[in-house]
Amino acid sequence: MLFKDKVVLITGAAGGIGIAAAKAFASEGAKLALVDLKREPLEKAAEQVEAADKLLLTANVAKEEEVKAYVQQTKDHYGRIDVFINNAGINGEFKNITEQTAENYQNVFGVNVMGVFFGMKYVFEVMKEQKSGAVVNTASNGGLLGAPGMSAYVASKHAVIGLNKTAALEMAEYGVRVNAVAPSGVNTEMMRRIETNAAGDKAEEARKAFEASVPMNRYATADEIADLMVFLSSDKASFISGSYYRIDGGQGATSV
Ligand SMILES: NC(=O)c1ccc[n+]([C@@H]2O[C@H](COP(=O)([O-])OP(=O)(O)OC[C@H]3O[C@@H](n4cnc5c(N)ncnc54)[C@H](O)[C@@H]3O)[C@@H](O)[C@H]2O)c1
Repeated sequence: MLFKDKVVLITGAAGGIGIAAAKAFASEGAKLALVDLKREPLEKAAEQVEAADKLLLTANVAKEEEVKAYVQQTKDHYGRIDVFINNAGINGEFKNITEQTAENYQNVFGVNVMGVFFGMKYVFEVMKEQKSGAVVNTASNGGLLGAPGMSAYVASKHAVIGLNKTAALEMAEYGVRVNAVAPSGVNTEMMRRIETNAAGDKAEEARKAFEASVPMNRYATADEIADLMVFLSSDKASFISGSYYRIDGGQGATSV
């Protein structure tokens, strides 16, 4: 058991990758703190996860006070935070730049950038005191490549990669490692929304085209992303920090 008695805090825990991560850490013995926007979907998600302990917390990660509160509640309940899966994210509206709005950019950056920043800001206070911890930020292949119609998302995930590198440098002296995962399309509700936003009632065709752009000709499963998160958070990755890991069926190999 890689995480026996360890405390793992996961945001976006009611979503596809969040639930898979919760299951994967729980199967390695972890106690969980699960954060998402609304209680009901979070409870439904948590029902699927058998863990030594589960703390369910609602918060909007785009709001600093709510982030401060979920971190404090986790610390109050468990006394520590060993792993932070900084994962909540939204895709935003699918439009070319000439049709994009400031509002969409603000929404996407509010969750994907400010949410990730606030999360690290408050979790790092706990990890600095402990002099230990591991953080995995969920970036995307959109943090490394462009994608027409998705400039707000792509720009936000590039920002996550920059935050990730800087955070790792700031936290190295405290024994805290910080890494990111950069998946291509993952078979969750987020891809269903992107397919519909991109192609309306031709969503199934969009899905086939997205899958065909991956050398392995399919989306990732959420479990595959969770397995990478578990590895990066574990002592088996004890000398890995400040890095991002493509998990994309070979898609990244098609560019420099
Ligand atoms: N699905 C993909 O193809 C894909 C690919 C690369 C990266 N990602 C990233 O993976 C992460 C998880 O995505 P997913 O595929 O599980 O999507 P999902 O939509 O299934 O889950 C996202 C979860 O985040 C929660 N969330 C959204 N805004 C929030 C907020 N303001 N505060 C708290 N919670 C909030 C949602 O309620 C949802 O439960 C995201 O950061 C996403 O950008 C996804």
